[in-house]
Amino acid sequence: MAESADPKPEVKYYTPDPSYRQNSWMGDYTWAYNEFLKDPEAFWAKIASKLYWYAPWEKVREWNYPYAKWFVGGKTNITYNCLDRHVLGKNRNKVALIWKGETDEEERVFTYRQLLREVNRFANGLRELGVGKGDRVCIYMPMIPEQVIAMLACARIGAVHSVVFGGYGAAALNQRIVGAGAKVVITADMAVRRGKSIPLKHVIEEAIINAPTVERLIVLRRETGRPVEIHSEMEMDFYEVTKDMSPECHPEVMDSEDPMFILYTSGTTGAPKGIVHTCGGYMVGVYYTTKYIFDLKESDVYWCTADPGWITGHSYVVYGPLAVGGTILISENTPDYPDPGIWWKMVEEYGVSILYTAPTAIRMFMKLGEEWPDKYNLNSLRILGSVGEPLNPEAFEWFYHVIGKDRCPIVDTWWQTETGMHMITTVLGEPMRPGYAGKSIPGVVVDVVDKDGKPVKPGESGLLVIKEPWPAMMRTVYNNDERYRKYWEAVPGCYLVGDLAIKGTDGNIMVIGRSDDLIVVAGHNIGTAEVESALVSHKAVAEAAVIGKPDPLKGNTIKAFVTLRVGHTPSDKLKNELIYHVRITLGPIAMPSEIEFMDSLPKTRSGKIVRRVLKAKEMGADPGDVSTLEE
Ligand code: WTA
Repeated sequence: MAESADPKPEVKYYTPDPSYRQNSWMGDYTWAYNEFLKDPEAFWAKIASKLYWYAPWEKVREWNYPYAKWFVGGKTNITYNCLDRHVLGKNRNKVALIWKGETDEEERVFTYRQLLREVNRFANGLRELGVGKGDRVCIYMPMIPEQVIAMLACARIGAVHSVVFGGYGAAALNQRIVGAGAKVVITADMAVRRGKSIPLKHVIEEAIINAPTVERLIVLRRETGRPVEIHSEMEMDFYEVTKDMSPECHPEVMDSEDPMFILYTSGTTGAPKGIVHTCGGYMVGVYYTTKYIFDLKESDVYWCTADPGWITGHSYVVYGPLAVGGTILISENTPDYPDPGIWWKMVEEYGVSILYTAPTAIRMFMKLGEEWPDKYNLNSLRILGSVGEPLNPEAFEWFYHVIGKDRCPIVDTWWQTETGMHMITTVLGEPMRPGYAGKSIPGVVVDVVDKDGKPVKPGESGLLVIKEPWPAMMRTVYNNDERYRKYWEAVPGCYLVGDLAIKGTDGNIMVIGRSDDLIVVAGHNIGTAEVESALVSHKAVAEAAVIGKPDPLKGNTIKAFVTLRVGHTPSDKLKNELIYHVRITLGPIAMPSEIEFMDSLPKTRSGKIVRRVLKAKEMGADPGDVSTLEE
């Protein structure tokens, strides 16, 4: 690949070898984008027609601002497209899923046929338990094949899954179970991390107290250590559910606009938001982007390192790659266990050709040194991907040179739980500009505007917005449609993303970060409000305010400012206790790395804590206008 300079000397681009474009599904970016602009509905209809529908749609899109429907009247089932289509076609015995545990011996491989049979058995088991179309099922599991099987089984029978990341604590889990009104919760007895078992079941047991909708708890008892006991009427063993079940199961015929899943994401105020995605549009969106952005081909070995508990896992571990018919690698391992070479060893051993990961992981590897990836042969790699937070130029360069050997294009994909699918990236073959994610992908219209919706001048920063509906967009916030409308109401005619961005003179977009009270820690959104309410639930805490502090490794870390109730005195011991308290309530991902005790917090006269003042103080910056603050 050639390294070239823009007319402006400081702008550097990397241009992939032309064969990437020539051999890609997408072809030329500008041509593809124009095809979309010429006739957006025809563009999406052409993609959707590659998938199987029980009944065709009558209308591609119905846009009733701010509500969109896609493939209106169409009937389908995503699992038919992810599994049966390949089994009935030529890929019956192709490997669908490879799971790798922490040790060399632990490996499980499923062909498409085997995966379909496992999904069907579990789907039949769920039906037997009375779970049907529209029922909510919470899945709280570590990264094991059964997590994927459980998701697909729900989608098979039209049950709405709500996957909760296995690293969340009891309170966070309870909130999500109650929010979704889950009828069944599926879990495992333990997760494995760095050679140790992490018990999960007691977290669930605590989380389903005060969750009256839960009728059943299905527990996968792993063969690591001593299996936990199933002790109440409500509990069932995972393989008891599938026992004697037929490996054939009729997929539920789903309307394109039937809800498919709920996924909770941190909100800027209090409770997390249950983002609702529907069957038809989501399926088309993730199929399209997996095939065209990752250029997934028949012979690829595809590894997305995300956990299915996040949207990245939903769209780009499970549904997108299976819809395209790829071979997917998943792994329960930690990137530096047993040593920091494990990922690169896996790339070599499995011949991974597409690797999709997060900047926080890349920066961690940067710190650990090139000697680890250099021990392994990474020649199988063809395409690299990044998601979750801005891929800063230093991390881009390292990923490009050390992992991609100056050969593999990097797709830095910007998108959200709410968008369901990729929205911005540099399409294969286009010149890549480090620090800039890229442009709207064909099918999507993204812009950077001011608060009135007017596009900013090139080089200026503004609000990132989406100007046209897209198939995989969220349809509502579960039980809170008002919150949904807010996304579309703040800036006239646009979907407000909540990120700040800069549009370069070349049209490339640099995403700077959140403009609201979300903190992106190691690629995961944490609401300041969630952490604050966890802190004030501790008996010693009167008030708390939480900010994100830029961190070279994690993007941000969490710092909490705390005032204490009378009778409690600041101490290091109390700091540790508070950090631990957040850990068990919300989970390790939301743990503050720093706590500072204060006598009072800066507030407006109406009593709102002004985090920006704390942040400015922390960063040694000017706090701005403080005239509206209390004395
Ligand atoms: C951030 C994850 C810069 C952004 C798929 C967004 C990014 C939030 C990128 C969504 C990227 C995601 N460059 N920032 N390539 N990708 N973000 O819902 O702030 O967990 O709004 O979805 O992550 O996070 P979410």
